[in-house]
Amino acid sequence: MSLTRPSTPFIAPSILSADFGHLGDDVREAVALGAPWIHCDIMDGHFVPNLTFGPDTVRAVRHAAPDTTVDVHLMIEKPEQMLSPFRDAGADILSVHAEACPHLHRTIQQIHDLGAAAGVAINPSTPWQVLEPVLAMVDVVVIMSVNPGFGGQTFIMETLDKARALRDWRSKNGASFIIQFDGGVSPETIDACLDAGGQSLVAGSAFFKAPDRKERWALFHTKIEHASS
Ligand code: DX5
Ligand code: ZN
Repeated sequence: MSLTRPSTPFIAPSILSADFGHLGDDVREAVALGAPWIHCDIMDGHFVPNLTFGPDTVRAVRHAAPDTTVDVHLMIEKPEQMLSPFRDAGADILSVHAEACPHLHRTIQQIHDLGAAAGVAINPSTPWQVLEPVLAMVDVVVIMSVNPGFGGQTFIMETLDKARALRDWRSKNGASFIIQFDGGVSPETIDACLDAGGQSLVAGSAFFKAPDRKERWALFHTKIEHASS
């Protein structure tokens, strides 16, 4: 696979909230509903106060979703040391945190040299302007709309303005990065994300922990269609 660029906004289910005892089934369910990307949250217990999984789990996702974009969000220190193992495991997108990369330009180049799409994430307290020197070369900008580390947190509304500013910058400068919101995306917050220019909307708990995932997917898509019409 490679980077899929849907023409309208979409939900990227985050497996952080999936049932790890049935991970393949959960991934296949999301793909069958139409998810163009599957989001994988990598946490190291240092950059963020939680631990998740490594390349072997990403490989399992790749096998369960051979035709879907595998979006790997690295919430880890020294991400440059782990780019190759995650790429080998099947990542199509490798997103690193600006806060974890003193040589961000070089790290983005390393991701591209591996043949993957490059994403750069910023925490809620990081201004979007730190990305200005690299915006022309990135494929995805990840606006963290919660403090990274856990699923199920409340969307931080103050992050919406970053998407607006990034959208303006993109049109003024002819860039093409995809704007992603990550954290707290739900039926209650999706309209605000769409209005601000969010295109890839990561949903962990609001999708995988929904009482009826099919119904939840349909609700999200009704809202997306309404916003795009
Ligand atoms: C948070 C992760 C998110 C998380 C979102 O640190 O980066 O991708 O899975 O979970 P929800 O959608 O439950 O806020
Ligand atoms: Zn994430």
